[in-house]
Amino acid sequence: MRKHIVAGNWKMNLTFTEADELLDDLMSELEKVELPRDEKVIVCPPFPYIEMASDYANDSYFAVGAQNVSDKDKGAYTGEVSAAMLESCEIDYCIVGHSERRAYYGETDALVAAKVDQLLAHNLSPIVCVGEVLEEREAGRQLEVVKKQVEGGLFHLDAENIKKIVIAYEPVWAIGTGKTATPEQAQEIHAYIRSLLAAKYGKEVADDISILYGGSCKPSNAKELFACPDIDGGLIGGASLKAKDFMGIVTAF
Ligand code: PGA
Repeated sequence: MRKHIVAGNWKMNLTFTEADELLDDLMSELEKVELPRDEKVIVCPPFPYIEMASDYANDSYFAVGAQNVSDKDKGAYTGEVSAAMLESCEIDYCIVGHSERRAYYGETDALVAAKVDQLLAHNLSPIVCVGEVLEEREAGRQLEVVKKQVEGGLFHLDAENIKKIVIAYEPVWAIGTGKTATPEQAQEIHAYIRSLLAAKYGKEVADDISILYGGSCKPSNAKELFACPDIDGGLIGGASLKAKDFMGIVTAF
């Protein structure tokens, strides 16, 4: 059975001291609750804090993810971080194809596919983001856009490898805007993504893949979103920067 996952995407926020405080708060909150065995919490801090987060995580309360990775193996690529480096820091997950990277850094589906390959070659699970922008939703093109992103980023994988992927559906118009997709809107796309996976890899494989919702998810709306049959958790931006808010989502299943 697929896992329930709540992943915090800190984006480019917090100083070292603030990150330390947040991790400390998060640990004490997580120690108080007993999470279901099929639920996983992931924290994705900026690169400089990855080791600190790993020390806190200590293989127990949460897993650590990166927010980006290079599509290249190694060598003269100033400023890049390779999948081999993340593997050597014992990181388990990495976000790929976030809409902010697609919009501001020209990340294409082909680049997403190359990053996915790097991560899988180094035993990390990619958290691959897809989602339409407002104009595409208004034009009724959301299914077409998401299909292209899922196919372009993932459909070169075989069945064994696709099972290692986590998908995050994040309607771009809902990210950081306070405007959340309704459970019906989100469920429709999640079910559609699962149907694409089922058509390509079979129902059994599709049923094993966690599909997260992202976009202004908060404690007050997480419960009804997570109650949808094809929504397996959330990728959380703003609300992951406060331990209490994040925990309100972690405990929403
Ligand atoms: P948000 O961001 O929760 O702040 O909307 C979600 C994301 O971009 O992953």
